[in-house]
Amino acid sequence: MSVEITDTAAAIARVRSWENQLPEGERLFEDPFARLFSGGAAADEAVELLLAVPVFRDYVRLRTRFIDDAVRAALAAGIRQILNLGVGFDCRTLRLGEIAQQGARVFEVDLAEQLERKRSILAAAGIAMPPFARLVAADFTTDFAAGLTRDLVAAGYDASVPVVVVWEGVLGYLDDVACDRMLRWIAQVAATASRLVFSYPVSRFDPEDLLPRIRAAGFVWLDDASLADVYGRYLPGEPPQGGDLYRFAVAWR
Ligand SMILES: C[S@@+](CC[C@H](N)C(=O)[O-])C[C@H]1O[C@@H](n2cnc3c(N)ncnc32)[C@H](O)[C@@H]1O
Repeated sequence: MSVEITDTAAAIARVRSWENQLPEGERLFEDPFARLFSGGAAADEAVELLLAVPVFRDYVRLRTRFIDDAVRAALAAGIRQILNLGVGFDCRTLRLGEIAQQGARVFEVDLAEQLERKRSILAAAGIAMPPFARLVAADFTTDFAAGLTRDLVAAGYDASVPVVVVWEGVLGYLDDVACDRMLRWIAQVAATASRLVFSYPVSRFDPEDLLPRIRAAGFVWLDDASLADVYGRYLPGEPPQGGDLYRFAVAWR
């Protein structure tokens, strides 16, 4: 089975679209947009592959809620920029009303073709991205830093004020070189008091290896928790088997 990295975003959207089928009181988030992105044979394959890990659905549900709450907390603390790296078909910009209410700006970064796909799927549904959101293309596996900084600044990004950086479901697809290159770049564009929130598979990054690298890039820890821990914060009952396979973290500068 061959799954393109860009197809994984459609698979994540598919999993998010199932949340609406749960009774209202059991949902971890509301995402009326996810179903728009969840179709296609390529997504079917990606869903099948990802859900071969039984805890994967809980991973997507919990990371979505964990990161929603981290973004809300950053907004409540006065942060007014959101930088979403590898945004895929995530629709926080449209679904978190607090972003518009607080007058925050959003910068969504992904591969050019993925951003174009997102824009055209939304357009076909009659939905335009709001004016406070800008889509900026980059390929993290290349020497992207100078070009991305320039394009973000041209789009209105201000590296002198704090930002909340969202790095959701992306680290698992990066090798060590790309991970460290991204961390160095994030540290350059994230002013003091910025926050970095991310999820990662333990199969790819051992926390004992990853966390010191994030500290070395200039971040201080707030929270690094296993899926099982985060399950206990949001859901009743015992965490599922495999609750140690994924982790969620917030770091700050
Ligand atoms: C698993 S999806 C997660 C999407 C989104 N963050 C979410 O949680 O819904 C991974 C995303 O990372 C993007 N991505 C992967 N490799 C990338 C690269 N080298 N440069 C830029 N984006 C990349 C993919 O295009 C895809 O949209």
